[in-house]
Amino acid sequence: MTYLTAAFPEGLTGRPLRESDHLPVLAAVGEWWGTPQAPELGLLLPRLFFQHFTVLSEVVEAVDVTGEQRLAAFLIAFQSATHPERVYIHFVGVDPQWRSQGVASSLYERLFATARELGCSRVDAITSPANRGSQAFHAAMGFVASGDSVVEGVSAYADYDGPGHARIALTRSL
Ligand SMILES: CC(C)(COP(=O)(O)OP(=O)(O)OC[C@H]1O[C@@H](n2cnc3c(N)ncnc32)[C@H](O)[C@@H]1OP(=O)(O)O)[C@@H](O)C(=O)NCCC(=O)NCCS
Repeated sequence: MTYLTAAFPEGLTGRPLRESDHLPVLAAVGEWWGTPQAPELGLLLPRLFFQHFTVLSEVVEAVDVTGEQRLAAFLIAFQSATHPERVYIHFVGVDPQWRSQGVASSLYERLFATARELGCSRVDAITSPANRGSQAFHAAMGFVASGDSVVEGVSAYADYDGPGHARIALTRSL
């Protein structure tokens, strides 16, 4: 799979996700979200994603002061098995020290280019009503948000992911 266009800021490089990224990604999510034991987030990232959903998923690494590669961002996405013309973005995260520098938008642009190569015409994702940063980021990336109720002041689908778990549906044409 080729990753086209959209370079990362200097010092960062992208590569395909692999199974050995599972525990480093879980650790990074705990650290980046400020809750090291964040069990709910860990449950969203079981090992199966790092085994069976690596083709369109990417990690971004930076070289730290000791010369070691350090995780800076990751994107987990896949081509829908049900709707092969769609790509679904499951999770994106950027180390707070690398935010607002175009890392996530580069990850998305690279994904869009690869998805177009595969003949896909649409990208789907969801986010939660409380995650205003994610909503703003996806709006900036051209996603259209939808919902059928007002939850926490925004349009969202109530009980989308179970009782009390409202989600905003996000869609973008390619
Ligand atoms: C949301 C997230 C992935 C954005 O990553 P990023 O690398 O900082 O995003 P970019 O720099 O590529 O932002 C592109 C544009 O999106 C918008 N944007 C991104 N984050 C935003 C925020 N928190 N608030 C408002 N607008 C935002 C801006 O318009 C930005 O353009 P600008 O930098 O010129 O202002 C990152 O903040 C993150 O990891 N958040 C925690 C995890 C998360 O919520 N993931 C999404 C749900 S799984």
